[in-house]
Formats: sequence, structure tokens, C-alpha cells
Amino acid sequence: MLDLVFDLFRNRYTPAPIQGDFTMRLLLILILMAPIAAVALDLTDKQRAEIEARIKPFSEVCVQGQPCGGGSDSAVSSARSGEDVYNAACMACHAAGIAGAPMVGDQVAWADRIGKGMDALYQSGINGVAGTGMIARGGCADCSDDEIRLAVDFMVDSSR
Ligand code: HEC
Repeated sequence: MLDLVFDLFRNRYTPAPIQGDFTMRLLLILILMAPIAAVALDLTDKQRAEIEARIKPFSEVCVQGQPCGGGSDSAVSSARSGEDVYNAACMACHAAGIAGAPMVGDQVAWADRIGKGMDALYQSGINGVAGTGMIARGGCADCSDDEIRLAVDFMVDSSR
């Protein structure tokens, strides 16, 4: 009889503290990991904000009647030089090598690309390079094909 009571007691009440201990440990682990998750989220948010800030200027470049990029607001529509277009739409990535973009002036980075011929580079400028950060027209929606070609000329001439 006493054995039975003892058994009952063991079966009922022994597991509880063990479970409680396990829960506490799990909770502790979660509490300790929370800041790490928070930091990770914070970083991606910051990175996204930075990327958005970088992309913004050239999605809004050169609206007619408003000051254009570097300032020459007389150069509306077709009168933009390759350098103007580069400064407004391409420099964001190609000046510092953002997202793996070949830096303008980096002859080594450009040598193989120049070897493909200007037509191939114009195509890349106009249509983008699939699967890379090089989006069509570098994101410059109001750049004409000719303006993109001029910008490519400017970039290549500066990188030979
Ligand atoms: C958002 C960033 C970004 C912007 C803005 C950008 N590029 Fe690029 N560009 C890249 C990247 C990344 C590559 C490398 C792609 C690859 O891996 O071949 C590249 C490559 C190129 C190449 C070489 C492509 C080839 O076939 O080798 C040309 C030409 C080029 N860009 C022209 C331009 C022009 C012109 C503009 C502005 C109108 C521009 N890019 C704006 C990111 C950018």
C-alpha cells in the first residue's frame, strides 16, 4: 500500500520539476537570442534604406522643367551628354563599384568587357545584364537609347 502511494507520488510529481527546468532553459535561450535576431533585422532594414536612398536619385533624374542631376537644367530631353547621363544615372554604382559594378577608370575591370565590343556593351547598358545589379538603362527610365550609348562611351573612354 505504501509502495503504491510512493509510486503514484513519483509518477505524478517527479516529471514536473524536470519539465519546468527544461522550459526555463528554453526561455533563457530565447531571451538570449532575441537581441541577435533584432540586430540582424536592424541591419537588413538599414541596408534596404541605404539601397533605396541610392536608387532614388536616378529613378527621379531629369524631370523636365526641374533641375537635372548635376545642375545643368538647360540640358533637358536629348541634349544630355554621356557624362551628364553617367553622373545622373550610372555613377551611383559605377563610381564605387557597388553591387559588383566595374568601376569607371578601373582599366583591369573593363579590359575584358571592352574586348566584347561596343555593341555588346551598348546592349548591356540598354537592356541590363540579367541576373546582376545592372538593371536596364541603369534604372534611368527617361534615358533614350542614344543617351545610354553616350554614357557607355563616356564610361569606356574613361576606363581604357
Ligand atoms: C544599380 C547599380 C548600377 C547602375 C545604376 C548602373 N550599373 Fe552598369 N553595371 C552594374 C553591375 C553590377 C555591372 C556588372 C554586371 C556583370 O556582372 O556583368 C554593370 C555593368 C555595366 C556594363 C558592362 C556590361 C558588360 O556587358 O560587360 C556597362 C556597359 C554598364 N554597366 C553601363 C551602365 C550605364 C550606361 C549605366 C547608367 C545609365 C549603368 N551601367 C548604371 C550596376 C549598375
